[in-house]
Amino acid sequence: MSTITSRRIIFGFFVAAAFVSTGCRDAADREQAKYVIGFSQCTTLEPWRVLFNRNLIEAADRHPDVQLVPLDANDRTEEQVAQMRSFIRRRVDAILISPKESPGLTRVVEEATEAGIPVIVLDRGVNTDQFASFVGADNYEIGRAAGREAVRLLGGSDQAEGIIYEICGGLATPPAQERRAGFHEVVAFEAGIRMVGGLDADWKKDQAQNIMQDALKTHDRIDLVYAHNDPMAHGAYLAARDAGRADQMKFIGIDAIPEEGQRWVRSGELTATFLYPTPGEKGLEIALDILEGNPVEKRYILPTRMFTRETVDEGGVEVAGY
Ligand code: FRU
Repeated sequence: MSTITSRRIIFGFFVAAAFVSTGCRDAADREQAKYVIGFSQCTTLEPWRVLFNRNLIEAADRHPDVQLVPLDANDRTEEQVAQMRSFIRRRVDAILISPKESPGLTRVVEEATEAGIPVIVLDRGVNTDQFASFVGADNYEIGRAAGREAVRLLGGSDQAEGIIYEICGGLATPPAQERRAGFHEVVAFEAGIRMVGGLDADWKKDQAQNIMQDALKTHDRIDLVYAHNDPMAHGAYLAARDAGRADQMKFIGIDAIPEEGQRWVRSGELTATFLYPTPGEKGLEIALDILEGNPVEKRYILPTRMFTRETVDEGGVEVAGY
């Protein structure tokens, strides 16, 4: 069995278990639970999402007043729209959504808001302000910090030299757009740096690996790979390693979860990664605040940290200006 297949099965089990456990609570606690909160997660194909679900489900389990209804949209916008509509029909008390992409999920977020259900948008934003609150990190600043680290690795300010190959996350999502914009803004000051690539690998490791295999054929020289998440950075690393060229390159990613990015930085496969905290627990806290009538902010920005081989065992370092 391939690693990807076996991983999928493990994640599948996790998701099924989450459903079974909420199913049991459904039967036993339904009458007691004061609040039913729908949660539409765009996918659980990536480890960051699995961690996100685990953190949120554990947080919900600590609240006897809450019955969380987690659904997995299997990476499909239409499925996520249908889930949102089912939450609206069921008249849940609040909805947490982490959208697959922005344009396709904007209208249904508005529909829920119009139906009087508070919607808390997590990680990837939507193109409207008709939601109750948003939780995410500052992807633009993370992109800028990654750009500064790239400049440092390629020789330092005003002297940096090299070719940077970029691999993008889903370009219909704000995190990919902002991680790209922040990075470009910083490296644009360096006359010696040339940016190439920029293809959309939809956040997926296997797609990034394929893109990098092609890139290695067309580019004799690549000095640094900047990928918008760690799975894609690692996919690029694997392609470069198989082509015997990984030693000539640095690899920068984003997410820094312990079992992926931090592990790959420790082993030297990635050069640096930036923490992208999972937003579920904060989202639940906000939902409860709204339901209890407490005031909430429109946007909550979670912190980041940079991890390199030298700093990973001390929990990384703060990012200047964040
Ligand atoms: C997981 C993920 C993360 C990334 C985030 C951006 O689905 O791709 O790796 O940081 O989504 O929205």
